[in-house]
Amino acid sequence: MDFERALAGVESTFEQRLGAATRDADVAEIQVAFLGRSGELTLMRRAIGKLPPEERPAAGQRINAVAERMELRLASALETLRARGLDAALKQHVDATFPAAARRRGSIHPIRRTLQDVCDFFERRGYAVVLGPEVETEYHAFDALNIPPDHPAREGFDTFYLPGGLLLRPHTSPMQVRTMLAHQPPLALVVPGRCYRRDALDARHSFAFHQVEGLVVAEGITMAHLKGTMEAMCRELFGPQQRVRFRPSYFPFTEPSAEVDTTCPGCNGIGCRTCSGSGWLEIGGSGMVHPNVFREVGYDPSRVTGWAFGIGPERIAMVRHGIDDIREFVDNEPAFLEQF
Ligand code: DAH
Repeated sequence: MDFERALAGVESTFEQRLGAATRDADVAEIQVAFLGRSGELTLMRRAIGKLPPEERPAAGQRINAVAERMELRLASALETLRARGLDAALKQHVDATFPAAARRRGSIHPIRRTLQDVCDFFERRGYAVVLGPEVETEYHAFDALNIPPDHPAREGFDTFYLPGGLLLRPHTSPMQVRTMLAHQPPLALVVPGRCYRRDALDARHSFAFHQVEGLVVAEGITMAHLKGTMEAMCRELFGPQQRVRFRPSYFPFTEPSAEVDTTCPGCNGIGCRTCSGSGWLEIGGSGMVHPNVFREVGYDPSRVTGWAFGIGPERIAMVRHGIDDIREFVDNEPAFLEQF
């Protein structure tokens, strides 16, 4: 009976001390004091020898049971202390009542989306998508494209000139020259990229803009392919009801040359503000590659023919999304960008 009472006393002292523990170290101390080599329970175990032999096994079992309970209580006390510590730390650094910041999701810029859609259309049809340098030589940007130095068309290109005969490309057409110099026909490619011109900034013009150039060269290529391709592209970009018309035009690097118009998606060709009442929107220039350009790159114009186009993604994106000021694309206004 003495033994039982002593054991109960040890356990209740243990509970009292554990209840007062505030740090991990307190818990460790209690563990040593009760379960350690000269701890209370160990002393009790030694005292078993003083009991009458028939009581010894039961006493051993009672001590083991208490020891087991103590181990569990110690572990859960540690757990409680840790959780309390974390709460305190969080309270110091986080105000859980502060309104959460709205999560901002990125979106694809309408110009990039248009470039992707155009390139995607051509990639699925086997065209290569290639990129070229934005700093170009006069040779690739003009001379090789049948625009000699005294040619009036050079004036139309309001170019930013750099020292050393270099310039910021005013169109993506120089990549026609670079690709043809590097590869033999047949070839089919598109070139998305940024271009620069000394244009005053207004709702319709920017000194930095994009173009997508297209070029197909092989035996037997005709303007009918060009028109069919432009029509299919417009239907993919604007919808299946689109029509395309060619207007005679002039570019030094194509003959014949044509301006590409598509029915205004705003009014389906009836006439509205977007198309200034004409029902048509111009999306770029095109034509059959001039024999002089072929000769310059070493192609035989009596063997191969080809067509090319250069379209304006800004214009396309504006019409697709009903944007009426080109400056919106570069203002980086979150309210504008988040719509896409
Ligand atoms: N490079 C011309 C421009 O920027 C657009 C163009 C017209 C490109 C006809 C072409 C083309 O490839 O065949 O105004």
